Amino acid sequence: MYLGLDLGTSGIKAMLVDDEFNMVAVAHAPLSVSRPHSGWSEQDPDDWIAATEAVLGKLRNDHPGALAKLQGIGLSGHMHGATLLDASDKVLRPCILWNDGRSGAQCETLTERADFHGIAGNLVMAGFTAPKLLWVAENEPEIFAQTAKVLLPKDYLRLWLTGEYMSEMSDAAGTLWLDVAARDWSDELLAATGLERSQMPGLVEGSDVSGHLRPELAEAWGVGQVPVAGGAGDNAATACGMGVMEPGTGFLSLGTSGVLFAATDRYQPNTGDAVHTFCHAIPDTWHQMGVFLSATDSLTWLSEITGTPVPELASLVPEKVEAPARVTFLPYLSGERTPLNDPSASGAFLGLRRDVDRAEMVQAVMEGVAMAFADCVRVLGKAGTGLEAAYAVGGGARSRAWLELMASITGLRLLLPRDGDYGAAFGAAKLAAAAALGRHDATVFGPPEVGEEVLPDARLTEAYAKKYEIYRAAYPALKALNV
Ligand code: XUL
Repeated sequence: MYLGLDLGTSGIKAMLVDDEFNMVAVAHAPLSVSRPHSGWSEQDPDDWIAATEAVLGKLRNDHPGALAKLQGIGLSGHMHGATLLDASDKVLRPCILWNDGRSGAQCETLTERADFHGIAGNLVMAGFTAPKLLWVAENEPEIFAQTAKVLLPKDYLRLWLTGEYMSEMSDAAGTLWLDVAARDWSDELLAATGLERSQMPGLVEGSDVSGHLRPELAEAWGVGQVPVAGGAGDNAATACGMGVMEPGTGFLSLGTSGVLFAATDRYQPNTGDAVHTFCHAIPDTWHQMGVFLSATDSLTWLSEITGTPVPELASLVPEKVEAPARVTFLPYLSGERTPLNDPSASGAFLGLRRDVDRAEMVQAVMEGVAMAFADCVRVLGKAGTGLEAAYAVGGGARSRAWLELMASITGLRLLLPRDGDYGAAFGAAKLAAAAALGRHDATVFGPPEVGEEVLPDARLTEAYAKKYEIYRAAYPALKALNV
């Protein structure tokens, strides 16, 4: 029995799987995000611990026999968050999250100070960890001075679980302090941020053991002092769940953020188009990602301002649309990463008319998100990764209408796994197994069976090619107007 713990932005999910990777039990506990200023996004790390205790409590009550057979734990979590600890492990301020855009100015400073593009393989983007630390140094110097350790969100959870300061390559790559080709901290990039190696956790591969469960917790939960795997950032963990480990395989995640993920067998950056180039969770493997910040969050926003639940809005769009909506939507509600790298980009509706109804607005939002994915397909192609098919995962993939639009707009053949939950918690459970068994081959990371494929509709693909041109031209035009 293996346990995967996924620390997501909106909640923590715990999944127990048996030795054949069949799901045995799952438990959730919600988390909230605080936005004290426009563009900020924070969470209290104490809430992560409380939520983890809650999900373990549920599993222990509902499945005591299963938990007693536990052989390993794997961790996954939202990436890039800056959790700052003092010398006695006290959390110094709320964690600054992946979709926090406050550090635009610090990105420019860091880019001038050191070769982040060459060593970290990524543009210095506001969501990443390094510019957040420079923001703290400049705006909260007393906190920066007390910072003894900087941990990523799931690695803070690990400290509580095991007592160890440890991270792993996939999430560490998203800090911008990792030499992504060498899979080691870069003293040069740390120094450019006013930090040193002693403030970083140790590093293991995601499929290796990072520590063991503390005796107090093992006793409280009725389990052994089992190994805790390195685990992975949530996207690499999802890839582990979907068996996306080999070049040419990929997935597209229609979650709060939009992610197009492709596995690579070498370090292959494309910083020009803000492609993310990170390590994968198993040795000698990397990955590329296009990430944009408001995917299903765009529909959530529309739901909030119209007071209409998301499922009701989504049901207004027919499963197979006849033609593109007349309205064009830019989904840059929390700024943008791939391909624009502009934390101050804003969203837009273009082409409103008196007879535009709610259904057409919802269709426009779904299309705008799909065109943001088309951007990711285009720039991953420029980085040497031509994807023809991808698994589709995430909450938005439950909407058939959205999937049909996504296939026609991106040109990708979308693969839908046969029923089952192959997300980050499942991938984390597989990493637990890899660490406990000491192997990371296809016996652990095999792909799920494909239940169905959603194919591009050639007639719509052509119609959307025209709309995509308008979409691409809109951002620079609006930027020139300073909106
Ligand atoms: C990846 C990213 C997001 C978060 C949220 O670069 O910022 O996908 O990991 O889960």
